Amino acid sequence: MSILFAPVRIGSLSVPNRFVRSATHDFMADDEGFVTAAHIELYSRLAEGDVGLIITGHAHVQPSGKASPRQMAVFDDRFDEGLARIPAAVHCFPSRVFLQIAHAGRQTKEKLCACVPVSPSAIYDPTSKVMPRELSADEIRVLIADFVSAAVRAKRAGFDGVQLHAAHGYLLSSFLSPHTNRRADGWGGPVENRVRVLVEVLRGVKAACGRDFPVIVKLNSTDFLEGGLVLEDAVRVARMIEAEGIDGIEVSGGMAEAGRGSVWAGLRGEDEEGYFVENAARIKRAVRVPVFALGGIRTLAVAERIVREGRADLVSLSRPLIRDPFLIEHFREGSTSKSECISCNKCFNPRGIRCAELTKKR
Ligand SMILES: Cc1cc2nc3c(=O)[nH]c(=O)nc-3n(C[C@H](O)[C@H](O)[C@H](O)COP(=O)(O)O)c2cc1C
Ligand code: SF4
Repeated sequence: MSILFAPVRIGSLSVPNRFVRSATHDFMADDEGFVTAAHIELYSRLAEGDVGLIITGHAHVQPSGKASPRQMAVFDDRFDEGLARIPAAVHCFPSRVFLQIAHAGRQTKEKLCACVPVSPSAIYDPTSKVMPRELSADEIRVLIADFVSAAVRAKRAGFDGVQLHAAHGYLLSSFLSPHTNRRADGWGGPVENRVRVLVEVLRGVKAACGRDFPVIVKLNSTDFLEGGLVLEDAVRVARMIEAEGIDGIEVSGGMAEAGRGSVWAGLRGEDEEGYFVENAARIKRAVRVPVFALGGIRTLAVAERIVREGRADLVSLSRPLIRDPFLIEHFREGSTSKSECISCNKCFNPRGIRCAELTKKR
């Protein structure tokens, strides 16, 4: 049997196989951020299709942290009941499910978040054309508390764990980045200070939810930006959060401002698959907790090599599971060994993610 179908532990949790659905914003919440029937159908299908660990799309922990229309919200108890329907649906199958908790930071619009977007420092974002406002020290404390409350809600709703979104230029990763974090107080400067918000969120979640409640992170390994986060700093961040009890690290990279994000289009051959895998392998050499590889993984053989060669412990997929939510089942049955996703990025559909290529064929 392929090593990919062997169970793996994430902290105290046993996950039935090594395939992860990486967080994917689905444009399926209602306008206020409540879970809808479309979510339940989406997550049921992924679980029925044998995905070992499903990570939801990013749910925002404060109203100001809304990144996209029809995004799930987790900033208030009134969202609990809807959120609880997701683990209830997933747990009809052996799959596990984590809620990704996030704050958009400066990567939003005033119209969406109904405020002036916030950031560690007031650094203009030429992509969103936003001039953010610097967070005060008191507001940083509130932010940390709100991440912790979101994790408590996730646990109460029945999620098996949470993923902290510290990638792609969103707020937690913008604290890590020396480009967006120019603070002169204890939250900025050397990487030991830039990681503090992430560390304090992690400590707070572990204190409130218990050490056994799994907490993983999606970590930028590089911003691809002059003066931004570089791999060597990301390795140090990985070591520091491991010492604080993180249960797993999913390695991503990129930010919109760099012109090089996390969702690369036009991948062709197997040699272009796994565009963040080398960074994952570098981080894996530095830590003992499970490392998740992602970025354009499309072929069973490529996924198998990543894990067999010890470059990562789990493999994460997003677009291939939009294309076919049953892909992992098809891998297991041997009915296919490669995703049909052509990485065209036409699945970003504000009326709900779907594969445009499939729709075209019908
Ligand atoms: C439609 C769409 C929505 C996404 N939403 C999120 C998200 O909410 N949080 C996140 O961390 N990454 C998000 N991503 C990035 C994916 O998790 C993943 O890192 C990236 O697509 C590379 O993996 P892939 O080549 O398997 O698609 C999204 C990607 C897509 C295509
Ligand atoms: S539209 Fe379909 S083929 Fe194109 S990237 Fe999305 S899932 Fe893949």
